[in-house]
Amino acid sequence: MSDEAYFSKGIDSKAPVLLLLHGTGGTETDLLPLAKEISPDSSVLSVRGNVLENGMPRFFRRLAEGVFDEEDLLLRTEELHAFLDEAAGQYEFDRGNVVAVGYSNGANIAGSLLFHCEGSLRGAVLHHPMVPRRGVQLPDLSAVPCFIGAGRNDPICTVAETEELIELLESAGAPVTAHWTAQGHQLTYPEVQAAAAWFKQVF
Ligand code: MLT
Repeated sequence: MSDEAYFSKGIDSKAPVLLLLHGTGGTETDLLPLAKEISPDSSVLSVRGNVLENGMPRFFRRLAEGVFDEEDLLLRTEELHAFLDEAAGQYEFDRGNVVAVGYSNGANIAGSLLFHCEGSLRGAVLHHPMVPRRGVQLPDLSAVPCFIGAGRNDPICTVAETEELIELLESAGAPVTAHWTAQGHQLTYPEVQAAAAWFKQVF
């Protein structure tokens, strides 16, 4: 994983640790305001993607817009999973109590953790995610609540793809809450507020 990671210990050691995963071109500081909104007392682990696309950090390679390099996606997913194991030891947090908060490319790697690494996440807030991979058996996600923020006019994460993702997660047993807006791909404050309300209710 990237050498660039940020950890801040929260005042509530029982609250889920928030794993922040930025969008393409972002950094580990981008989503810090979301953590404050979603769970201000939580510990926060925020990482910078270690793949560069024209100088822009991402969490895995893509072949084109919306076309993922599957081999790299799997490799980076395993890498992030291992990084979380390591970070839990280093920063002394409960490895079983990590909730991802990701936007766009960050939501996609969080989705990939859900698909491929059983038990890696206790829950996930996915802002504008896509289907990370097709044709694979998902683990049992019945204890892994997921929030999906989506825009009906998002040209990258289409309504059809978002609905496909919801169906895949629900088929694996995940309790999914979808929050739809009329927006495009951008992350808006009302969507973050909806995620925060969901989080407070679920955790
Ligand atoms: C991706 O590549 O993960 C998605 O296209 C979202 C993006 O980063 O633009």
